[in-house]
Amino acid sequence: MILVDLLKNKFGFDEAFNYKEEQDLEAALKRYFPSGIDIYFENVGGKMLDAVLPNMRFNGRISACGMISQYNVQGDGVRNLGHIVTKLLRMQGFIVSHYYHMYPKYMEMIMPLIKQGKICYIEDVVEGLESAPAALVGLFSGRNVGKQVVVVARD
Ligand SMILES: NC(=O)c1ccc[n+]([C@@H]2O[C@H](COP(=O)([O-])OP(=O)(O)OC[C@H]3O[C@@H](n4cnc5c(N)ncnc54)[C@H](OP(=O)(O)O)[C@@H]3O)[C@@H](O)[C@H]2O)c1
Repeated sequence: MILVDLLKNKFGFDEAFNYKEEQDLEAALKRYFPSGIDIYFENVGGKMLDAVLPNMRFNGRISACGMISQYNVQGDGVRNLGHIVTKLLRMQGFIVSHYYHMYPKYMEMIMPLIKQGKICYIEDVVEGLESAPAALVGLFSGRNVGKQVVVVARD
């Protein structure tokens, strides 16, 4: 519940739910998006992608950033890819390393928005390089709340 509150009240999402508390992801998405989904930012893959596909609207777009549910498993197959054909969906991946040359331009764009409070973020900070392995493993079980940062040394 705390996470849902955070998403709605701090980050300003219209709706949010905790996938760990839902028996049927497809039904949950239908409940929260009764008219369907136009744009889906994919960070999870697997069962979540499978539940999203039938809920996509015609000509919907999926921006594929990551598939964290799939990194440590094999064969958690996606069955609903046919919706890409029948609903004329477009799905495109991207990877940050292809865009490093745009980083200075990104900083110019993002810094004023952060200062104005139009974009906000939360950091989950752990101290010391020795904390890094546990912090990394914690990403796969939702231990962190906010961007996981490891402080190697403080000046
Ligand atoms: N395309 C790129 O260039 C790029 C660059 C960096 C990262 N990424 C991707 O972006 C995504 C987020 O990465 P991040 O570094 O910012 O990590 P993050 O969101 O801070 O942490 C990962 C979160 O994923 C959730 N998670 C873990 N296993 C899951 C599962 N099986 N099903 C659903 N959710 C699960 C956990 O939250 P819960 O508590 O909700 O489970 C965890 O807090 C990842 O998919 C990553 O690969 C892409």
